[in-house]
Amino acid sequence: MIELKNTMNQSDTEKTLLKKIAELEKELKKVKKQKKYGLVWEEKPEQIVEDCKHNVPILRLKENKKGIDPVIITDKTKDENILIEGDNYHALSVLNYTHKGKIDFIYIDPPYNTGARDWIYNNDYVDGEDPYRHTKWISFISNRLEIARNLLTEDGVICVTIDDYEMPRLWLLLEGIFGIDNHLGTVAIRVNPKGRMTNRKISLVHEYAIFFGKTASSKIHKAPENPEDKTHNYIQATDGSWYLPVNLRKQGVDSLAVNKKGKLSDRYYPIYINSKTGQISVIKKFDIELLPIDQNGEKRIWRRGKEAIESMFESKDLWYKETPQGPQIYFKFLGGLEGRMIQSLWLDTKFSASEYGTKELDEILGEREVFQYPKSTHAVIESIIAGTSNQNAIILDFFAGSGTTGQAVLDLNKQDNGNRKFIICTNNENNICEGVTYERIKNIIKGYKNKKGEKVEGLGGNLRYYKTDLVNIEKLHNTPDQAKVNLTYQAGEMVGLRENTLNEVEKNDWWQIFEGNGKTTAIYFKEDKEKLLKLVETLEKKKQPTALYIFSWGKNEYKSEYSSLNIRVEDIPEPILEVYKEINRL
Ligand SMILES: C[S@@+](CC[C@H](N)C(=O)[O-])C[C@H]1O[C@@H](n2cnc3c(N)ncnc32)[C@H](O)[C@@H]1O
Repeated sequence: MIELKNTMNQSDTEKTLLKKIAELEKELKKVKKQKKYGLVWEEKPEQIVEDCKHNVPILRLKENKKGIDPVIITDKTKDENILIEGDNYHALSVLNYTHKGKIDFIYIDPPYNTGARDWIYNNDYVDGEDPYRHTKWISFISNRLEIARNLLTEDGVICVTIDDYEMPRLWLLLEGIFGIDNHLGTVAIRVNPKGRMTNRKISLVHEYAIFFGKTASSKIHKAPENPEDKTHNYIQATDGSWYLPVNLRKQGVDSLAVNKKGKLSDRYYPIYINSKTGQISVIKKFDIELLPIDQNGEKRIWRRGKEAIESMFESKDLWYKETPQGPQIYFKFLGGLEGRMIQSLWLDTKFSASEYGTKELDEILGEREVFQYPKSTHAVIESIIAGTSNQNAIILDFFAGSGTTGQAVLDLNKQDNGNRKFIICTNNENNICEGVTYERIKNIIKGYKNKKGEKVEGLGGNLRYYKTDLVNIEKLHNTPDQAKVNLTYQAGEMVGLRENTLNEVEKNDWWQIFEGNGKTTAIYFKEDKEKLLKLVETLEKKKQPTALYIFSWGKNEYKSEYSSLNIRVEDIPEPILEVYKEINRL
């Protein structure tokens, strides 16, 4: 300070101090913005993620080979479900271009990092001795969760299953990515009723399913009430609806006909019954006159007013019955089935992975234990019901393993006549994707013979099997021209998926055309626009809504020139590169 005074005059000192104050204020703002608490870990760069700065992921249709038909269609009126083989970081990157903001529900069951070499990081299995075991797992999961969040609709929900090994870290990580207020609940599921063997610890019988919403508009939905499960005796009408027969005479609270002041309620009136025909009326006087008086002689009230009686009888919602207590009038009560709240403890054996999941998969594939610990489809169905009430939902699982989520979606659609669609992704470690995931979904769609040799009917549905691949673009932040051209030639399948037009009907040097769902998508590959008008003419003739992706160096170059009533013009490849830059924060 003394030194300062000696070397500077008064105004220099002030200026220096003001500068220092401004710097400190800036620093303070930064500190205030920082997380107050939470998960801290040393980032362990992941090769797969680093590679994507030079090689961008695309999709290719899986090759047709013995036992694998990449396109299964049993119902042309329905959308196709998608299976993607490859690393899920690549698949999620592609989906950030094709399905941003379109996924209603994500269900994932990632490797639990048990220390028993149950997952691969940077080409090596991670074991219990690895000092960076947890750090690597957090980096691995956070790289994927961050980009998966973009895919959810504004009211979308994610469910992540986990056991005790990584539960505390996963919860904090999810809070960091989705926000503490968007935690919608954590369920304990009894997945292994016999309990895990242990010398030292508590024997685990359960694991967790953690639910987070994307925003404040996400919520947990009620499960449809099964009237047959109700303790009351609901009855199904011939039109399929359910009702409870309820005595028209009120009982219990607020049922007395005379109030404290001695006034008689207008709900106390006589109803007439024709004992021969069963007709009920308040206007016509029949042989039986009934007042709402209970067996103790207490005057009660009817549950409905006088004016409703004739029309309730007309619509068959009111009837009379002889009982040991004399004639009684009943009506159809349609309420009480608004839905079952999802609770935080799932104990039923149908949720057990060890009992139910494994047996179910063995039956479908006709082999024993081809995959360790597949989830129970019931547990996945319950999670889907909790996460979305949209019967046309798109459901994503990017750690699909044996494909339980795919089956759960098909099963649930069958149960409630829904039209949900799935996108599932898994790597092909130990040939899982081809040998287990694809095989299972194919069997569920087309039918199969179970272990006893009995035929099990297929549920029907459609499947398209893609594989991820990489296109070298040298540098994502400064992509050379030739690399942009290459990417455009190879991005067809992902553009088709983005537009939900999955069938390639034509590809030549100049363009590629996809069709599906009554729509067309075309990609024009070249900077040279010589043949573009010819393509536009071809597309116009189809008289279908069309998306035309025109190669361009920048953005919005051709929109005004080639758009028409039928044709929407898009640029390619710049928007794809932009999505990938954003993901890689370049
Ligand atoms: C715990 S299992 C999921 C089991 C699944 N829920 C079922 O019921 O079958 C996790 C799966 O994710 C796959 N997997 C692990 N890392 C992956 C990655 N980076 N990309 C794609 N799949 C991966 C594994 O091969 C494994 O099959």
